Amino acid sequence: MTEQRWPDGPLRREDPEVASLLAEERARQRRTLQLIASENFASPAVLEATGSVLTNKYAEGYPGRRYYGGNAVVDRVEEVARARARRLFGADWANVQPHSGSNANAAALLALAKPGDTVLALRLDQGGHLTHGSPVNFSGRLFRFVHYGLTPAGDGGERIDLDAVADLARRERPAVVIAGATAYPRVIDPAPFAAIAEEVGARFLFDAAHVAGLVVGGIHPNPVPYADVVTFTTHKTLRGPRGGGVVGRAGLGEAIDRAVFPGLQGGPLEHVVAAKAVAFGEALRPDFSGYAAQVVANARALAGALAEEGLRLVSGGTDTHLVLVDLRSFDPDLDGRVAQTALERAGIVANRNAIPADPRPPFVTSGLRFGSAAETTAGMGEEEMGAIGGLIARALRAREDGRALDALAGEVGQLCEKFPPPGAGRG
Ligand SMILES: Cc1ncc(COP(=O)(O)O)c(C=O)c1O
Repeated sequence: MTEQRWPDGPLRREDPEVASLLAEERARQRRTLQLIASENFASPAVLEATGSVLTNKYAEGYPGRRYYGGNAVVDRVEEVARARARRLFGADWANVQPHSGSNANAAALLALAKPGDTVLALRLDQGGHLTHGSPVNFSGRLFRFVHYGLTPAGDGGERIDLDAVADLARRERPAVVIAGATAYPRVIDPAPFAAIAEEVGARFLFDAAHVAGLVVGGIHPNPVPYADVVTFTTHKTLRGPRGGGVVGRAGLGEAIDRAVFPGLQGGPLEHVVAAKAVAFGEALRPDFSGYAAQVVANARALAGALAEEGLRLVSGGTDTHLVLVDLRSFDPDLDGRVAQTALERAGIVANRNAIPADPRPPFVTSGLRFGSAAETTAGMGEEEMGAIGGLIARALRAREDGRALDALAGEVGQLCEKFPPPGAGRG
């Protein structure tokens, strides 16, 4: 219904300019491969809730404690979302209001530490996120971040250096230890982080932004029993609307609630909260674990195909939805920026990404990051992922040949036609 209504609905009549832009974007999503590791295709039900009348409602506060009237229904919507989030993660409490993963992290840091406190996190150039202490982000400006990194490259290398985490924790006595990453293709085991945090009397924040869907699908260990606070995004492997959330064990819920509102945000986006509830409901269904397993199997198939084409895999493979490749093994003159542009012309959408010890600056990089979550939602399997690995290599080899790239885009388009994403994405 949703997808039928949108192309010819009120938007087309009232605002053809914006309507035609949305149609263009639908066509782009339909004809090209979505391999951005932080993206997915939300279901028609999620899209419908996101576009619902709840966008009209102000609801500062929490269920039963709002600052405006008229929230009886909204309260029930948010309660459904919170209850489903608790069930999904096996958590004692949940806050579903953060507008994004960054806001979830900001709230968690505000609740767990004071400005100026020391926080331990993964280096940004080795897979950490902006909110884990970038000097241009609130995190790096408000807190004193100390970073751990990965072990050196080599067999079994490029893994989180847990000895360094322990050494740094003992030396720096941080208020908070953060685990979690934006470009790390391996499982992050929460247990050793919890032990280190406990030893030095730090709080443990697990940022599950990327892997939330793999956690609730039962593929990755659930950090909730180990961490004081777990933050996540709802739009990546969890396949919901754009947004964030926080869950945890008993004890810190009230502090997190206060940090989100009034600490950080005003009125929650209740239409997005409703869509989060829908996505959590989808993830609670038994078939979601099959999806999560297929996401990882597909990433492994893509990784294998890329390795066969001569692209070095950071850490030698993947346990996640994400593949990080080092372009230097393929062609030392090829940088991430040129590679990303060539792929896009061939209809393959991915992002350049710094690799550990990258000699090139962050805006250029020597790596590419791919993700399997979206095309798995569209129904692709390992066979297609293997073929995509070959298409990527052909595009990179033909990067200076515009006509060859355009021809490849045609091939990519034919593949995409066979795997339309659910709902309006490619409608
Ligand atoms: C590890 C990690 N934390 C937080 C975020 C922030 O999420 P958002 O973009 O929704 O603010 C991301 C997003 O990529 C992430 O990878």
